[in-house]
Amino acid sequence: MAAILDVQNLSTRFNLVSHTVRAVEDVSFALGEREILAIAGESGSGKSAAILSLLRLIQPPGEIDKSSRVLFEGKNLLAMDEAGLNRIRGKSISMIFQEPSASFNPLFTVGAQIAEVLGVHLGLSKTQSLARAAEVLAQVRIPNADRRARDFPFQLSGGMLQRAMIALALACGPRILLADEPTTALDPTTSTRILDILKERTIAAGMSMIFVTHDLELLSGFADRIMVLYAGRVFESGPASVLLEAPLHPYTRDLLAAIPRPGVFKDSGRLYSIQGRVPEAGRRPAGCAYHPRCSRAEARCRSGEPALVQKDSSFVRCHLYV
Ligand SMILES: Nc1ncnc2c1ncn2[C@@H]1O[C@H](COP(=O)(O)OP(=O)(O)OP(=O)(O)O)[C@@H](O)[C@H]1O
Ligand SMILES: [Mg+2]
Repeated sequence: MAAILDVQNLSTRFNLVSHTVRAVEDVSFALGEREILAIAGESGSGKSAAILSLLRLIQPPGEIDKSSRVLFEGKNLLAMDEAGLNRIRGKSISMIFQEPSASFNPLFTVGAQIAEVLGVHLGLSKTQSLARAAEVLAQVRIPNADRRARDFPFQLSGGMLQRAMIALALACGPRILLADEPTTALDPTTSTRILDILKERTIAAGMSMIFVTHDLELLSGFADRIMVLYAGRVFESGPASVLLEAPLHPYTRDLLAAIPRPGVFKDSGRLYSIQGRVPEAGRRPAGCAYHPRCSRAEARCRSGEPALVQKDSSFVRCHLYV
């Protein structure tokens, strides 16, 4: 599969007064044409820092390592001047932010804000861009899109606002969509509908997508490939069906076992959840960062950090496979 985005040795840290948070550490991957790649992991694992870094949207005290490279159409986005990158952001590569307020300004109508982006990037006239805004709102199945385009963000329900954010991200016909937990705040039925819309638009437009989630359960039948992050490191990556059905890393297995299933509560009296907590920012344990929580941990896991190794169609970072 030809790669549309090639990420090499991405590292991002936050330089705080008391310590440094290594939020993303040496993450490499290629995103294929028309591929849906999911980045999964618990809260604080570095998912948002990783995808914000791709478009150089990290603010101080955050800093992307100088040796990191993000290649798109033969250019390194991390070394590009701001004006060049601004022509790509929101046009060729667009983003649905984890925080909805990062997408919409409460003071303007949803349609006007989508139209504004179309004016800036595609040079459409006001009339053309307002018509196109209603069209993209209809594409994400917002009923009465013409009328809804004249609503302010607060007038839309959570699910409708999420659709409008997708419409905003898709307005300019991007090649790549970066979606950061776009369904976390929604109920399960609404989430499923949003995922259906995202997948349908991705296929219809021949786009590629990076979809960030803490919820592996969403990904079956949705993602082509999954990359699991822990404490900023890739712990496992591979084809979605392989990773979900035959996970290699004890962490991936624990994440999957933590998904509530019908009957589990009744049988065992309690839901399974992973013991312990994600290491606190800046206080990563020596050796494998997961060892304090891992039921398979051995002496070597406490001292040396395992390398990422290939195992059939997957990659895994665990001493069990070295
Ligand atoms: N602006 C910031 N300043 C300081 N530390 C930060 C900042 N942003 C993120 N971090 C730290 O970087 C690490 C990764 O954070 P990130 O937001 O990428 O996690 P995440 O996987 O997206 O989590 P969530 O599922 O909660 O969104 C965390 O330890 C976090 O505390
Ligand atoms: Mg996040």
